[in-house]
Amino acid sequence: MTSRVEGKIAVVTGGAAGMGRAHSLLLARQGASVVVTDVDGAGGKETVQLIAAEGGTASFMQHDVSKAADWAAVVDHAVERHGRIDVLVNNAGILAFKSLQDTDDDLWDRIFEVNVKGTFLGCKAVIPAMQKSAAPSIINISSMYGIIAAPNAAAYEASKGAVRNLTKAAAVDLKEFGIRVNSVHPGVIATAMTNDILASEEGAKALLGTTILGRPGQPEEVSAVVLFLASEESSFMTGSEVVVDGGYIAQ
Ligand SMILES: NC(=O)c1ccc[n+]([C@@H]2O[C@H](COP(=O)([O-])OP(=O)(O)OC[C@H]3O[C@@H](n4cnc5c(N)ncnc54)[C@H](O)[C@@H]3O)[C@@H](O)[C@H]2O)c1
Repeated sequence: MTSRVEGKIAVVTGGAAGMGRAHSLLLARQGASVVVTDVDGAGGKETVQLIAAEGGTASFMQHDVSKAADWAAVVDHAVERHGRIDVLVNNAGILAFKSLQDTDDDLWDRIFEVNVKGTFLGCKAVIPAMQKSAAPSIINISSMYGIIAAPNAAAYEASKGAVRNLTKAAAVDLKEFGIRVNSVHPGVIATAMTNDILASEEGAKALLGTTILGRPGQPEEVSAVVLFLASEESSFMTGSEVVVDGGYIAQ
């Protein structure tokens, strides 16, 4: 068995479900110790149990990514337990299908608090703990909707566009600390975020849009890219954006 991130210490936010769970499982299978964080305690602990059942190492921290105090607790936990952080996957995110005209201030603020401020706080909070890493890497989960738009998700699309360029800003600034920072831009992936729409033929057709491969992606197909960016195989990549969308934005 290959161990592409053997001995690394990884923090994965939003690890209770969907892609965050898949990223946590794959990183653990490839030799990382994973700190799984989420607002959803039950789901987060279940991810940890799944990793333990496979013989991997993981722990859970209750964590709202929009709160700086929660980030401090997560970093303290990782450092106390493992001495450092090598990999941060800023995966937690929320979506609302609302047009610009139907988006109220509270919804706008909440989406930006989680998706953008959460990512910013994470990039900043891990700097000291990454100073003890030989090859630190931050992976920010944006979306293909950080590059293009579709109807009825204005705040989400703006937030993911912000994550895209925040990643480039972080790559420039955190070079000083030897930290690489890249963004991943999934297309339509089958998780709780999209399952309701994908369940109907009409919804699936609308959501899949121009996806060349003609199907939703599976979380594990995004995890493979996260693993690559977490590992030293991607050592010459920083400030990059990797699109994993089945060809949606190619046409
Ligand atoms: N599913 C898709 O098609 C798709 C496509 C592109 C990008 N994304 C992005 O990928 C990431 C994961 O999406 P998913 O589809 O797995 O979603 P999901 O809804 O299945 O899981 C998201 C997880 O984040 C957690 N979370 C929500 N708010 C949080 C907060 N404030 N603090 C900590 N955790 C919080 C949730 O409890 C949940 O466990 C998100 O950033 C999402 O925007 C998803």
